[in-house]
Order: sequence, then C-alpha cells, then structure tokens
Amino acid sequence: MSIANNYIKENKDRFIDELFELIKIPSISADSKYKNDMIRTAEFVKDSLIKAGCSHVEICETPGYPVVYGEHLLNEKFPTVLVYGHYDVQPPDPLNLWESPPFEPIIKKTEIHPEGAIFARGACDDKGQFYMHVKAFEYLVKHDLLTCNVKFMIEGEEEVGSPNLGWFVKRNHDKLKNDVILISDTGMISNQQPSITTGLRGLSYVEVEVIGPNRDLHSGLYGGAVANPINVLTKMIASLHDENNHITIPGFYDKVLEVSLEERAEMAKAPFSLEDYKKALNIEDVYGEKGYSTNERNSIRPTLDVNGIWGGYTGEGAKTVIPSKAFTKISMRLVPDQDPEEITMLFKNHFEKLAPKGTRVIVKPHHGGFPYVTPIDNIAYQAANEAYSETFGVEAIPQRSGGSIPIVYLFEKELKSKSILMGFGLDSDAIHSPNEHFGVFNYLKGIETIPLFYQKYAELYKSNLC
Ligand code: BES
Ligand code: MN
Ligand code: MN
Repeated sequence: MSIANNYIKENKDRFIDELFELIKIPSISADSKYKNDMIRTAEFVKDSLIKAGCSHVEICETPGYPVVYGEHLLNEKFPTVLVYGHYDVQPPDPLNLWESPPFEPIIKKTEIHPEGAIFARGACDDKGQFYMHVKAFEYLVKHDLLTCNVKFMIEGEEEVGSPNLGWFVKRNHDKLKNDVILISDTGMISNQQPSITTGLRGLSYVEVEVIGPNRDLHSGLYGGAVANPINVLTKMIASLHDENNHITIPGFYDKVLEVSLEERAEMAKAPFSLEDYKKALNIEDVYGEKGYSTNERNSIRPTLDVNGIWGGYTGEGAKTVIPSKAFTKISMRLVPDQDPEEITMLFKNHFEKLAPKGTRVIVKPHHGGFPYVTPIDNIAYQAANEAYSETFGVEAIPQRSGGSIPIVYLFEKELKSKSILMGFGLDSDAIHSPNEHFGVFNYLKGIETIPLFYQKYAELYKSNLC
C-alpha cells in the first residue's frame, strides 16, 4: 500500500471537482477569442498552487500567454525537481462529434475505463495530467513529506508550438535551475502496464499555397487548358511518398540515426496487439513505411502527413469551377538527428520545384521542434520505475513515443537538464479528438505515484552524493 492512498481516498471527490473547475474554462491557445479565458486559467492555476501550499507563485508575462511559475524551496541540500505542464488545450472542433459538450466535464464508464473517465477537452492533455502534480504536491506539503525542492512551470502555448517559451527559458536560467524536469504530458501502454516515455519526435509544420489563374474559372470553358491548382497540389502531395512509403524529399533521411537491430528487438518486446489496434480504429489493415512495424513507424521513423487540404467549391450541390488557389497544411514528424529548420528548407526547395509551369507555390513554415531521446541509466529513470513498480505492481517499460513536446529539447539545451516523462494517459484517450477523456483510475494513480517519485529520487540523489 503506497503512502498517499488514504489521503487520496478521503479527498477523491474534491480532487475531481477541482479538476472539473479547471477544465470548464476553455483555454484554447490557438484562437484569440479565448484570450480572457486563457488569463482566467492562468489565474486558476496560480490559485491552485497557492492553495496546495506552494510558498511562492507568480504569473510571468511573455510576449504571448503567461507562464505560471511556482516554487517551494525547502533545503539547499535537497534536489530540485521542476514540474512542467501546459494549461492550454486544443480547439474542440468538430463540435458535432462530441457526445457531451467539450467544456462541461462528465464521468462516463468505458470498456477501457470501467471505473469511469472524465470526458472533456483537456481532460488528459494536459489539465488532468498536470493537476495530478498539484494534488500530489498538496499531499506531500500537508504531511510534511517533501524531500525535494519543487518548482512548477505551467505554460499556456504548448498546443501552438510554445513560440515564446524559448524566450522565457533563456531569460530565466536561474529561476528554472533544477536537477531534473518532471513531465506528465504523454501516455503509457495500458492501465496494467505502465511505461516511461524515453523519446519524443520532432516536428516541422508547413502551410502550402498553390496559385493558378487569377480568378476561379468556368470548368467547362477553361477545363483542360489551364493548370487546376487542386489537381496540381494533390499530384505533388502524392509524389512525396514512393511505393514503399518512403518519403521522396531529397536529403530527408540523411541525418536519421538508424536504430540498431538489438534495440529494435528490445522495443518489440513491449506488449502490443495489432488486432486490438486495428479493431480500436475500425480499420482492416495498417499502412506505413515498408520494413518497419507499427510501433516503429510511429516512434523511431520520420513521417510526412497532410493535416488539412482545401480550396474550390465545397458547399451544397455542384458548382462547376476551376479554383484559382489550393491550400494544404503538412506536418513532418522527425527523429534524431533531424533538424526541423533543415527539414523545412528541404521540403520548401523540393516542393517549389515540383510545381508545373502555370502555377506558383508558396511554402510558409509554421512551428517546429527537435526530437528527443533520453537515456535510462540515470537516477530519475530509476526513481520513476521504482515508483511505478510500487503502485502498479509491475515494472515500467521504456518506450519511445510518436508525439512531440518541443520544449523538452530546449530544456536540455538551455538548462542542461534531462526530462523524465511520466505520462498517465492512454492512446485511446482521444487527445486532440472529439470525446477526449482521462480515466479516473489514471488521474488517481498519478497522484499516488508522483509522491513516490519524489521520495525515491531524493533517496537516490542523496546516496549518489556520498
Ligand atoms: N501532450 C502532447 C504530446 C504527446 C502526447 C506526446 C502523447 C506523447 C504522447 C502535446 O500536447 C502535443 O499535442 N504536442 C503537439 C506538438 C505541438 C508543437 C503542437 C503534437 O505532438 O502534435
Ligand atoms: Mn500535451
Ligand atoms: Mn496536445
């Protein structure tokens, strides 16, 4: 029985109610309409940290949305843990696919979450997950059990690529100084099998415009005689993968570090059912790069995906028209040692060359981020593994994830700190999708496991010093 168990049992309803209040504020960083809600959320986070017992909390302005910073420094001899999370969420669209309103959290049982899951935007990514840290911290402060100095840095722009976090981190090296960064913004294999995320993919995100004739044209009068930007764009997109689903951009793979066969064999030991995977997505088969397994395709291999495409007539009925322009948004997930700016340039040069005469192509770079891989032979990993082993009864498995948290690379570069990614979400929790949810089991298990991390990390830190 772990140390926090009784406290969690007694306070479970309050923990859920408080998270509900946080989730109810629509903190959508991508849409400037929600600016006031963003500020209200930052204040809510600040108040929560104060109420949890954090001795100094402030809202730090940035050129964008503010960072909520808190610190609770007890003893110079203690190691310092910096908790990172984000209070912003993805837009909830498409709204009509939600079974309950995205900012009115409710608990519903599911096959995977028989004890119930909280359905709402941000429930898992990342409000539910960073709030576990606030409650774990509250428990430790109340019982005078903290053996680490703790700092919190909860930002409001993660879902739009953390454009101002570099600015903030560069100016606050001293404030953010730490021995390890602790993040719950990823997932684990299942509620029976915890895992620790040891890698994140990088990202290069671009927007493309293909420009044809100076106006929309009658598709009978002009059809066949001028380039149709949508025809052209789709052909260009199709050419970006070859018959083996390799990406055709020259130089794209040049810096990819091939993972050794030994390491791949080790990774393949993680429990995974392809049948369940297909069933959960209602697809007959998976699809991807030749020569790699599903888990490899979405973690150790780079990808290129169209995220959206538009242009021409999409309203009701038929309108015969050759559009003047076509647009798309494309993301490329990157792996070590690919550099997002380099990849963006490779894409731009290649894509612009693909355009036939009679069209013009504009490639606009959006945000990017570096990939990250962390070693497992360090005391933070060991502490996390011991904490999971105690609360789940099985050891955690190291696993590289396909998602991106660009700040993790920046933390290492600027602060020289390693991050330990203790995620409690599941892939099936539908983050970024309609009906996002977070298991009540997962929420409470996080609150139970995190205090053990602090305890074990401090012990290992101390014994490492002598
Ligand atoms: N928390 C996610 C990233 C994530 C989720 C990593 C699950 C691993 C497992 C984060 O909020 C996110 O969505 N990141 C974005 C990148 C960002 C630049 C918009 C992503 O991965 O698309
Ligand atoms: Mn997140
Ligand atoms: Mn996200």
